[in-house]
Amino acid sequence: MSETWTDLLKRDHETTERVLDAIARAFEAPGGPPRSVVADAVEYFARYVDQCHNKKEENHLFPLIERLGVPRHGGPLGVMLQEHEESQRLLAAVVSLGRAYADGEEADAGNLRVVFTQYADLLKNHFWKENDILYPMAIRVMKPADAAAVLAGIESVEAALGTDTRARYYAIADRIIAAGRLEDLVFGLDRQVLPAMLNSLPIELSFVDADDRVRYFSHENLPKIFGRTRGAIGMPVQQCHPEKSVHKVIAILADFKAGRRQVAEFWIDLQGRMIHIRYWPVHGQDGAYLGCMETVQDITEIQKLTGQRRLLDDAAGS
Ligand SMILES: [Fe+2]
Repeated sequence: MSETWTDLLKRDHETTERVLDAIARAFEAPGGPPRSVVADAVEYFARYVDQCHNKKEENHLFPLIERLGVPRHGGPLGVMLQEHEESQRLLAAVVSLGRAYADGEEADAGNLRVVFTQYADLLKNHFWKENDILYPMAIRVMKPADAAAVLAGIESVEAALGTDTRARYYAIADRIIAAGRLEDLVFGLDRQVLPAMLNSLPIELSFVDADDRVRYFSHENLPKIFGRTRGAIGMPVQQCHPEKSVHKVIAILADFKAGRRQVAEFWIDLQGRMIHIRYWPVHGQDGAYLGCMETVQDITEIQKLTGQRRLLDDAAGS
């Protein structure tokens, strides 16, 4: 089935919302968004959202539904027009600060983020009102010939801006979305949060990289079951183990690298405490071997658990 005018306008909204989200995330990156992303965003907002998408509505949808009896003032139509004007005012600031930023004037990044956030908030709020209030209202008053006229109007606005206008600007949108994509949710956290999370675990972590060198351990400066010092960082793991067991370590790492083993598990009695030690191969998203993680956990109390205690049974809370 061919697309209706609402399909096309809603897709513009959806694409633009994804662009807005991608840019908001790009502002969270250390050093701010890449200049090329800001340059693309300015181009997309000024030439597509404002000069193409809004014109489709202002020139072909809004006047038509006004002729069909929807009042221009004192209702949703008036609100939509007001918001288009407001978005133009904010866009002017986004464009001028965005162009300066894209040209290398980083001092304006803070102001750019402020006006961009205002612009994004306004657009998101505006889009759902159009999707959920104005368009359904328009559909109710339109006849099939009216819908065809809006569709033709949409095509004429796009054609006036060159061939394949929508595809050209959607390609820019895709570029922005791809650049702003978070490869992992952890990248969206402030820098100090991940180490704090790891140090809050009731499990001590150590990591050796793909070259078998110690690269990380958690709970530095906190009480630990097995003490570690920074001097271990960078050392081959083989040098950190007693000579009599080092061949076992080498064999485990070889199994991990070859994909023959997914975990190596040990438990020992340490002065009356049951200590659970496990080694895990760590793989990247592409499956490449990144290294091996050791987890060390005192499971003495866990071993004693019986029955159940649910959240509502919690006596320690208020
Ligand atoms: Fe719209």
